[in-house]
Amino acid sequence: MKVGGSEFVKRSDDQSVATLTFENPPVNALGYEARKALNAAVLEVGIDPQVKAVVLVCGGGTFFAGADIKEFGTENATRSPNLKEFCASLDGLSKPVVAAIHGVALGGGLEVALACHYRIAVPDALLGLPEVKLGLIPGAGGTVRLPRLIEATKALRMITTGEPVLAQQAFNEGLVDALASGDLIEAARKFALDKAFFPLMATSRRPVRQSDIAEFAAIADQAISRSRGLRAPVAAARSVRNAVTMSFDEAIAAERRIFLELLAGDESAALRHLFLAERSAQKLKTASAGVVARPLRIVGIVGGGTMGSGIAMSFADNGIRATILELSHDALQASRERIERAYSISVTRGSISEEEKAVRVALIGGATDYDAFRNCDLIIEAVVEDMEVKREVFRQLDLIARPGAILATNTSYLDVDLIAAVTERPGDVVGMHYFSPANVMKLIEIVRGRETRDDVLATALAAARITGKVGVVVGVCDGFVGNRMLLARNAQNEQLLVEGATPEQIDKAFVDFGWPMGPFQMSDMAGLDIGWRTRKRMGRVAPIADALCERGWFGQKTGRGFYLYEAGARQPKPNPDLPAIIAAAARQASQQSRAISDTEIIQRTHFPLVNEGARLLSEGIVARSSDIDLIWTRGYGFPVAKGGPMYWASRQGLSTITASMDRWALKTGASCFSTADVLRRLAGAGASFERFGLALNQGDAA
Ligand code: 3HC
Repeated sequence: MKVGGSEFVKRSDDQSVATLTFENPPVNALGYEARKALNAAVLEVGIDPQVKAVVLVCGGGTFFAGADIKEFGTENATRSPNLKEFCASLDGLSKPVVAAIHGVALGGGLEVALACHYRIAVPDALLGLPEVKLGLIPGAGGTVRLPRLIEATKALRMITTGEPVLAQQAFNEGLVDALASGDLIEAARKFALDKAFFPLMATSRRPVRQSDIAEFAAIADQAISRSRGLRAPVAAARSVRNAVTMSFDEAIAAERRIFLELLAGDESAALRHLFLAERSAQKLKTASAGVVARPLRIVGIVGGGTMGSGIAMSFADNGIRATILELSHDALQASRERIERAYSISVTRGSISEEEKAVRVALIGGATDYDAFRNCDLIIEAVVEDMEVKREVFRQLDLIARPGAILATNTSYLDVDLIAAVTERPGDVVGMHYFSPANVMKLIEIVRGRETRDDVLATALAAARITGKVGVVVGVCDGFVGNRMLLARNAQNEQLLVEGATPEQIDKAFVDFGWPMGPFQMSDMAGLDIGWRTRKRMGRVAPIADALCERGWFGQKTGRGFYLYEAGARQPKPNPDLPAIIAAAARQASQQSRAISDTEIIQRTHFPLVNEGARLLSEGIVARSSDIDLIWTRGYGFPVAKGGPMYWASRQGLSTITASMDRWALKTGASCFSTADVLRRLAGAGASFERFGLALNQGDAA
């Protein structure tokens, strides 16, 4: 039976229990039409005298995954009945409503379940309030009802981190009333019928489950210190505190106010953009229909250095066996020790147990002979960044890898086509550019060679997903997307020093913008020798960084770089020799020193970065501007609250950027601004980056 005149909700009655089954593929999001239908259905069963109890369940693979994120920013997002009102309808029912949960119950989805009188879940269901990850707090009572079901400290932790819990844990803590190991709907009906004869207690009428005040304060402080300037986790902590200190109605009203304020703000818009960007990046733009990823069971990794070991760990962390190939037993032993050390740190920090460490270590094998790779589905080369060495590795791999195996290179700059050309199977060769430390960093640039097959790309994307990373497909060019844009950004760093800024001032301007650290501190941490080698290869110079390297000052690892690091300390102090080096570079360039504002620092470093992104789009190296935003937020630390460089730029306005670049070019004579060609063309056409990206995908732009 349909109810509410809608396709969203079906009703079936059995022994005076009405089961409402909601279906809105793919994830049962609660958009306006869905809410309207559900609300009507709930009110209908509420007044039906035949109905003694209600079961609310979803069809498809999951319970409600939350409010409809794609609806945010439209008037439907808050249109009545909004989720808060729908939850109030459930809460006000005078007969028990049981939420029957499978798959995930997230955000507004869990809030609906919290507003029901009881919750029953399958053991592998996940329950969470991930709104902070979208720059929001729960807006339909989550922060007020959850601490009435579980201890306030536990609620605070769940809401401020956004991390879900498994049904078993939810059951132990009181969030779930029963676990269903058999048929969920059957179990829920039986449970509902049993409860029909007991007095009802709506969640809203329960008292808050108080917990240790000191622990509550400590978790709130932790949320604030980890928020790195983001508003949502702080607001979430405030809202849970309101739940503890205010009446239910006051706390709900305050929660809604905060939710609506965040929903209208830039931070949430940027984080929602990145959520959708992640989903878009999974879709191959040029793939023929029905492309299927190849199986991925055993992985081989050539090279057990920092990168190779990290890649192996990223697979082992997710239950996939990985074998590392090294030249000698000694090198293999060094790799093993590196991996052991890294896992021991995780055990010490409490992020994994000793048992978990043992399982992961056991999943990583070692070999000194290519023969060990005969059965691998994917082999990733992570040897030194040298074309000839890499080509030799691929010749060897081509001889032993089974037909259909994927051969990937972890190069960060080199031409994937030249590497693929030494094999008889260039279609099976792909770039997988990991970022260090590879077991931690979320990004993989997946480099499509001229002949790379679609199913190879799909498998590389799947490998990224399985290992908890974001894969973004890019084309072949020097440095691919991220490093090529980085070069454009960094080109201005030295110039700013020569004109009178200090590393401290520039780094601070970056941190104030939202970066975790500034470019000079970052270079010192990564090692100045890396950029030095790259510049030499490309025939480029950076007078100040080159002068530091010529003195053997490579940053933190040598105790000196742009900054001074005393006795192995990580805390930077001014390098007393740097002013003389800068002065020499300024004399060489006949440059007078002048006061430089933070705005100038940000514009002169970030606008060339954006311009390079636009060039990459126009060259077809990257398919969407949102892909660039993902690369920069997931791989380079661009502040997520600003949505990535292209999103941020589109908020600045293209004409504003080009006008400002022209102004700095006139003032500084800096050559990189004369490359603002693509931006100027875009601005002239009144285009946005999003439209430009779209047009490119249709093959009719640039
Ligand atoms: N609203 C709208 N669309 C959503 C959505 C949502 N809440 N969640 C997922 N989708 C869409 C995705 O965009 C994607 O669409 P596409 O095919 O057009 O790209 C599709 O559903 C499938 O999503 P995934 O590729 O992510 O599928 P997975 O199976 O890997 O993951 C999931 C499913 C775990 C549900 C994951 O999508 C997810 O975490 N979704 C977000 C959940 C969330 O944040 N909910 C809170 C929303 S805010 C809220 O509820 C406010 C409230 O407090 C008032």
